[in-house]
Amino acid sequence: MEPIIAGNWKMNKDPAESRTLVQEVMKSVGDIKDRIVILIPPFTSLASVCELTRNTRFKLGAQNMHWERSGAYTGEISGLFLKSLGCEYVVLGHSERRHVMGESDEMINKKLKVALEIGLIPIFCMGETEKERESGSTEDVIRGQFDGGLKGIENEVHKIIFAYEPVWAIGTGKTATPEQAVEVHKFIRGMLKKPGTILYGGSVKPDNIDTLMREDEIQGVLVGGASLKPESFARVIKFQ
Ligand code: PGA
Repeated sequence: MEPIIAGNWKMNKDPAESRTLVQEVMKSVGDIKDRIVILIPPFTSLASVCELTRNTRFKLGAQNMHWERSGAYTGEISGLFLKSLGCEYVVLGHSERRHVMGESDEMINKKLKVALEIGLIPIFCMGETEKERESGSTEDVIRGQFDGGLKGIENEVHKIIFAYEPVWAIGTGKTATPEQAVEVHKFIRGMLKKPGTILYGGSVKPDNIDTLMREDEIQGVLVGGASLKPESFARVIKFQ
């Protein structure tokens, strides 16, 4: 499996800005052969990014979706619409969805099921807060998110990309050390009981990407802030 670099732009970059960012990143990284880059712009930029990534090594992902295929859900987005726009991936269970928008394990579970049914590859995020880490409950929290999110789809874990994103490391500049990340990745892998892809996310940037990617346990990264600037995103993509 090739390493994955996924850039989550969150609520940044309108369609024109997204286009410029993609063009500059593509120019800067050139021909990428041995890694997969997933661009995860806001919904409104998916169409413009899709145009630029067609027939390239750059893949398209969405930041969220609803658990129904269609219906009276004002303001929500169906996974089917994402597929029709060229998305192959969808981020589910991101800490900002859990902690800012109040998504529960049950909601995330419904979304994961539908994503699998319609053929989107979920990037399923889990992670503990600083308080939870300090109180020694990291593994309990991750186990809870894992079990809650995967209820009824335990046999389909091979179709899911996992992302360990400690909440205390997201957007804070405080990256988990490779040892801290590896410890939780091993814990997740133990629950998976089979080979799987586990990404690390949380303040990944040009000056820590190489060390993180040297760990066999880390199959890729989910990058927020550093994916918003062409120079830093390109450097992360070109990790050595
Ligand atoms: P960050 O965000 O790289 O800005 O910490 C990561 C994420 O939320 O996926």
